[in-house]
Amino acid sequence: MEERIISGEADLNDISLEQSLRPKNLKQYIGQDKVKANLEIFIEAAKLRHETLDHVLLYGPPGLGKTTLATIIANEMGVNIRTTSGPAIERPGDLAAILTALEPGDVLFIDEIHRLPRSIEEVLYPAMEDFCLDIVIGKGPSARSVRLDLPPFTLVGATTRAGAISAPLRDRFGVLSRLEYYKEDQLMSIVLRTSEVFETEIDSHAATEIARRSRGTPRIANRLLRRVRDFAQVKANGIINLELANEALELLQVDRLGLDHIDHKLIMEIISKFRGGPVGLDTIAATIGEESDTIEDVYEPYLLQIGFLQRTPRGRMVTELAYHHFHLDIPNE
Ligand code: ADE
Repeated sequence: MEERIISGEADLNDISLEQSLRPKNLKQYIGQDKVKANLEIFIEAAKLRHETLDHVLLYGPPGLGKTTLATIIANEMGVNIRTTSGPAIERPGDLAAILTALEPGDVLFIDEIHRLPRSIEEVLYPAMEDFCLDIVIGKGPSARSVRLDLPPFTLVGATTRAGAISAPLRDRFGVLSRLEYYKEDQLMSIVLRTSEVFETEIDSHAATEIARRSRGTPRIANRLLRRVRDFAQVKANGIINLELANEALELLQVDRLGLDHIDHKLIMEIISKFRGGPVGLDTIAATIGEESDTIEDVYEPYLLQIGFLQRTPRGRMVTELAYHHFHLDIPNE
């Protein structure tokens, strides 16, 4: 898969920067109002009852703030957070080591929880339900199972693919929260907030322009801001206005809707080879030389979101909106 400036996935620069930019509590967190309102109540209620918060599953496209929310949940509950990810837990013993090291009330954050091996999921069920671990000691006929008590904890799971989570695991989460793409005004507020942290001067028109091209995703907004700020530093006096932002974003080849050459290629192939569709996902994958999963998880969600692509029972279709955006004539029936 090619590197893209408008990818929602985190790169190493994003990770270190996001740690310093990250809002620390729900009040500082912009957007996701429904998720926030619910969490506020559940957290308050758990605190009033002196209980741990129910397990929380956060799902939605990359870059929308799942890790940030997990950290905020721990901060709001006044507990520590331990962070790991689905692919990092290879053996039941790995999970047992993490669980037994928790302090009462801690948040255990498992990113990419859909990638946990099945054998590990089974260890997780009694841990989530009854705060205990069933460990098998020995092998063969002399093997026996020992039950180990764990401190009560809150599991916060995050995934970009809710559909890939097994039903028994999903059912053990008390709170399921879906993160949505952000609105332009919310992204603009995030851009302004980040500019303040950077001590960079930016006007509201420039902040809006960066927000508009950020595909509803704070991580992309902050990444574009970083690149535009570089441009301002070198080409101007460090101050970001609309003209400069437009120039920098043009150079980055991110168009007015946040689309790049890969979006362009995907749409153009469907138009030129399949008259705009409908065409099956696997056929598109073969045509552009990509995995079907990559198209489904990475390339198409935003194009579906802005209504440039439609999913039909017979495959993907390019919509009139996309033809207009790329200044193309719509083919006759
Ligand atoms: N930075 C990245 N995402 C944010 C959010 N949702 N609120 C505030 N700052 C952010």
